[in-house]
Amino acid sequence: QVQSSQWYPDGYFIYDGIPYTSTMCSVSNLSACKEIQFRDDDVLIASYPKTGTTWLQEMVYLVCNDANTEKAKESMIGDRVPCIEHAFQGKQSTINKLKDNKQQRLMFTHLRTSFFEQEIKQSNIKVILLIRNAGDTLISYYHFYKLATRYSGDWNSFFEIFQKKQLVYGDYYDWYVDWLRLLHFPNVILMRYEDIKRYHAASVEMLSRFLGKTLSSNEIQIIVEATSFTAMKHNPGTNQKQNPMFDHQQGEFIRKGEVGDWKNYFNEEQTIYIKHLDEEFLKPFELE
Ligand code: A3P
Repeated sequence: QVQSSQWYPDGYFIYDGIPYTSTMCSVSNLSACKEIQFRDDDVLIASYPKTGTTWLQEMVYLVCNDANTEKAKESMIGDRVPCIEHAFQGKQSTINKLKDNKQQRLMFTHLRTSFFEQEIKQSNIKVILLIRNAGDTLISYYHFYKLATRYSGDWNSFFEIFQKKQLVYGDYYDWYVDWLRLLHFPNVILMRYEDIKRYHAASVEMLSRFLGKTLSSNEIQIIVEATSFTAMKHNPGTNQKQNPMFDHQQGEFIRKGEVGDWKNYFNEEQTIYIKHLDEEFLKPFELE
C-alpha cells in the first residue's frame, strides 16, 4: 500500500520490510524481479544507492563495447545499463525489456541478494559489487533526496532516517552485510569507489580482465578519460541534466565526486556512530 510522509514526499511502500519509492517501482514489479533468469554473458552491478553506480555503469558499458565512446553517446546510461527494478509509470519496466533483449545484458540493482542469490549461484553471470565509505554515501544520498524526492529536511533529520533504517532501499550496513556474503562466489568481485578514484586506469584494467575483455592501453586510456568526473559531469548521456524527475535547482546529479566530503557535514556524535558501525559490520570483511 502506497503511503506518504515527510520522509518520502513522493510516496513509498514497504516490501520485505524495506521502503521503496512508488515513483520508481511497485510491489508487482519487485515480485517480477524475483523471477529474473540470468544468462552466462550477463553483467550485473550490485550497489547501495550513491556509491558511484553511474560511474561504474559507464565504465562497464565502455569495457564491454570496446571503448566506443561515440556509440555510448547515442543513448542515456540508464538505457544502456538499466536498473533491474525500475518500473516508471506509463513506461515498460526494465524487467520486461530485459526479457526481450537478445544482446549482452548489462544492468544494475540496489536490491538485496534474496532477489538474485540462486540465479547468481546457478549461472555464470558476472557480478560487480560496489562499495563506498558510509559517510560519503550518506552525504551523497542526502543531496540526492533533495534532488529527486522533494525531501526538504536538513542533514541532521536525514541522519535520523538513516539511524532508523528507513532510507529508501533500507540500511547501508544491512545491505553490505547481505551482499558481502557472496564474495566467495567465483563470479562476484568487489570494487571500491575510493580505489577507483586513486587507481582509475588499474581499475578499468581489472574490470576488463574480470569481464573477459582484452583492451589495448589506448582503449583503457580512452575509458579513463571518458569516465573522469569532469567528462561525466558534462556528458548529457551521464549527467542526468535532462531527467524530468529531478528538481535541478537543488543541484547536480554528478555532484562533487570526492572522498571525505562527509567531514564537512558530520558532527562528532554522528562520526562516532558511523565509526562503531564500520567496526562492527565492515571490519570482519577488512573494509572498515
Ligand atoms: P557525490 O554526491 O559525492 O558527488 P550513484 O551513481 O550511485 O548515484 O552515485 C553518485 C555519486 O557518484 C555522486 O557522488 C557522484 O558525483 C559520483 N560520481 C559520478 N560520476 C563520477 C565520476 N566520474 N568520478 C567520481 N565520482 C563520480
